[in-house]
Amino acid sequence: MSAARRMMVAGNWKMNGNTASMTELQAMMDGVGDTPAVDVLICPPFPLIGRFSGASEGRGIGIGAQDCHFNKSGAHTGDVSAALLADVGAKAVIVGHSERRADHTEVDDLVQAKAQAALDAGLTAIVCVGETEAERDAGEAEAVVLAQLSGSLPASGVEHVVVAYEPVWAIGTGRVPSIEDITTMHAAIRRAVVDHYGDAGNGVRLLYGGSVKPGNAAEIFAIEDVDGGLIGGASLKADDFLGIVNAGIAQV
Ligand code: PGA
Repeated sequence: MSAARRMMVAGNWKMNGNTASMTELQAMMDGVGDTPAVDVLICPPFPLIGRFSGASEGRGIGIGAQDCHFNKSGAHTGDVSAALLADVGAKAVIVGHSERRADHTEVDDLVQAKAQAALDAGLTAIVCVGETEAERDAGEAEAVVLAQLSGSLPASGVEHVVVAYEPVWAIGTGRVPSIEDITTMHAAIRRAVVDHYGDAGNGVRLLYGGSVKPGNAAEIFAIEDVDGGLIGGASLKADDFLGIVNAGIAQV
């Protein structure tokens, strides 16, 4: 982490949770307190966003979404606009997660349009990038990630852009790149973000995601260009998630 950037710990619930998960959210809000020293976000499935946003009003956890459409409204059956997400209380939206890229063939141009729509709606856009195992084995990890980044980052709105580096092979597998590999990749991403936005790129938060747990969060968050984490499995249970949030707070 760097003192110049506020840490962020974001939970991505993916297609998990239901109305009964309010209990888990309450436990998380109680554990985090109302004015945490890091930004804390939970991104549940769409139908829970309005309810969770209402319950988290004035508390220390913001609510985000996992995807949005790039249009404000219109004939797009099954899609949800960033404007509606903002209207029901979301503060952020994840775009370009590797599961969306793989399951819904989302390409960089589309991810960029979604990120822009998020910014236009007043949301923070968490733009995800990450290489597959085959790409890493072929020595192409950095080239792949930097190409995704340059195709996916919106042109402006830098203050509300967050980047999440998530190696596809580390997601949900319990496997994590070495500290050295995360350090190298995040430094490369930082240089690319500064190339893209100029000096303002130094203010963009770079999250690491992929099998972050309470047991490994501290050493990952201590890396200079890691400004927090995007957490999948370990964000579903309050105890685990709070352990990770506390590892973030310990860096501040
Ligand atoms: P994981 O998922 O923490 O379960 O590996 C991370 C993510 O996909 O955002």
